[in-house]
Amino acid sequence: MSKIIAGNWKMNGTRAMLDTMFDALKNVKTENKIIICPPFTLLGTGTVATGAQDCSPHESGAYTGEISAEMIAETGAKYVIVGHSERRQYHNETNEIVRAKATRALAAGLTPIICVGETKEQYDAGKTLEVIEEQIRNSIPNHDFIIAYEPVWAIGTGLVPTTDDIARVHAHMRTLTPAPLLYGGSVKGSNAAEIMSIENVDGVLVGGASLKPDDFITIIEAI
Ligand code: PGA
Repeated sequence: MSKIIAGNWKMNGTRAMLDTMFDALKNVKTENKIIICPPFTLLGTGTVATGAQDCSPHESGAYTGEISAEMIAETGAKYVIVGHSERRQYHNETNEIVRAKATRALAAGLTPIICVGETKEQYDAGKTLEVIEEQIRNSIPNHDFIIAYEPVWAIGTGLVPTTDDIARVHAHMRTLTPAPLLYGGSVKGSNAAEIMSIENVDGVLVGGASLKPDDFITIIEAI
């Protein structure tokens, strides 16, 4: 089965950076699915699929500053990340809101990439599987989607769970859903191959290392 390698640019990037990335990706031969999720203003069609990083839980209306799933679909984007821990944390997004966003995304023909993940306190307390299960049960609608397991404490920190930890969480998630399961959190060229070789890991969601073509292509080529 082909793997999924998605880059989450967060609030970084310019049109020139995206063009450079698309150009660089033209020369990369891979069977795997590459997705770039830049800021809304850079969405559209390119040499690889694009995705947004969020969408409104509402269809349309008086929601100043919001972007609907339909608007995202109209740009040519095919995916949307929902429930990233930075959204759950800084914008108080609950599982219910994440589920409403994923539902809107599906209605607009987008594939949601739904993020779940435990905090360091929850990890230390041995609550990882419980937290992930609760998030999955409450934030996914019953359709086609992708799940990204991103331990909050591994995002942007350089810390990565052990392969046993990732294997355990992914095996548990597999009992809850047949959806493709990505791992995210400090993925880089030097650990991508090992992470991708873990059973039930169908791809990776990459933050910092997806911004520069060299780093991102090293990850694609490692897989
Ligand atoms: P990171 O971010 O790869 O920079 O740790 C991952 C993410 O937030 O999706």
